[in-house]
Amino acid sequence: MKTTISVIKADVGSIGGHIKPSARLKQTVEQFVRDKGKKLLSDLYVSSTGDDVALLMAHERGANDSKIHELAWDAFMAGTKVAKEQGLYGAGQDLLKDAFSGNIRGLGPASCEMEFEERPNEPFIFFAADKTDPGAYNLPLYLAFCDPMHCAGLLLSPKMAKGFTFTIMDVNHTEGDRVIELNAPEELYDIACLLRDNERFVVESIRSRANNDIAAVVSTSRLHNIAGTYTGKDDPVALVRTQGNFPATGEILSPFRIGHYVAGTMRGSHNGPLMPVKLNSTISFFDGPAIVSAAAFCVHNGKFTEPVDAFDHPFWDWVRNNVSQKAAEIRNQGFSGPAMLPYSELEYGGVVEKMGQLDERFIVRKDEVHAAAGAGNGRKKKAA
Ligand code: F6R
Ligand code: MG
Ligand code: MG
Repeated sequence: MKTTISVIKADVGSIGGHIKPSARLKQTVEQFVRDKGKKLLSDLYVSSTGDDVALLMAHERGANDSKIHELAWDAFMAGTKVAKEQGLYGAGQDLLKDAFSGNIRGLGPASCEMEFEERPNEPFIFFAADKTDPGAYNLPLYLAFCDPMHCAGLLLSPKMAKGFTFTIMDVNHTEGDRVIELNAPEELYDIACLLRDNERFVVESIRSRANNDIAAVVSTSRLHNIAGTYTGKDDPVALVRTQGNFPATGEILSPFRIGHYVAGTMRGSHNGPLMPVKLNSTISFFDGPAIVSAAAFCVHNGKFTEPVDAFDHPFWDWVRNNVSQKAAEIRNQGFSGPAMLPYSELEYGGVVEKMGQLDERFIVRKDEVHAAAGAGNGRKKKAA
């Protein structure tokens, strides 16, 4: 018997800005899924990270099951109703379409799912991030699955010596799923070449090459690409199985120590460090910093243990202090250079509109000396 774990999450309204859903909203969503999902689910865990509510569901129906997706959609609709009644901010924000149409992908909420034969003991981590996009997981997953500086098991465990297969998606391609499979360690440089571009290429899944078992899945939806206009950052979720043929839990957590710079934070339009936070954390400084939480579980016969809050430890307090410092550093330069995202990634149209207006006011000087000098000055890019 195979177990499926599905995570579906959405922001359907929050208190005090884009900060945290109300307790009633969360309870409503949870109760809805418990009532209507009785016959569908073997277990459920509901949590919030920043302004997003996530449903972690165990069942036997496989990935992309329309009943499971519809259950989540309807639950978020019920949550939206409460958000409207309570006057929460951004009520229904992530529900971009009027009606459910068979699969939740492309409708706004983020989702990732994996189906596997349970091992006798089956540890996994559920990650949820807020105020950032799915590329935020690129570097941590690359380091955890490919780099012995973080994953000692690549050197020490014969089970991991064969490496892992990465499926990477080009999220700019909106007419369908454009994906590529690359093998670590042989194609490490190719993997790195793609994963450096967090806004375009995103890890969709990782498999063990020892037995083709699924190791990790990430939500790849980009609201930016679905809606065309600003509707909130994507706030991605991920599931990672650990131990045995996979990196140990601590090896998966290791790269989050870096607090690497990701896109997101204020107005989804800045770069800032990714802060590992405790479960159910809120958002604060500059609508950030971008946060990621990690709930570690075992699943057995489709039932979850209680979660362990993997970033609730004195070590991570020290990391959070360092990440705060990084957040303050980049904020010191406000809008300048890498502090703010390039035009194509700005989630608000203000700057682009302004540029359009200013463009009309530019003049080209009729200066023949400059023109002649400029003509011979064209720099060519170095050939590869
Ligand atoms: C970022 C985010 C927030 C909002 C900001 C302004 O993903 O959700 O930073 O962009 O609080 O929000 P609005 O435009 O709703 O006033
Ligand atoms: Mg929001
Ligand atoms: Mg959010």
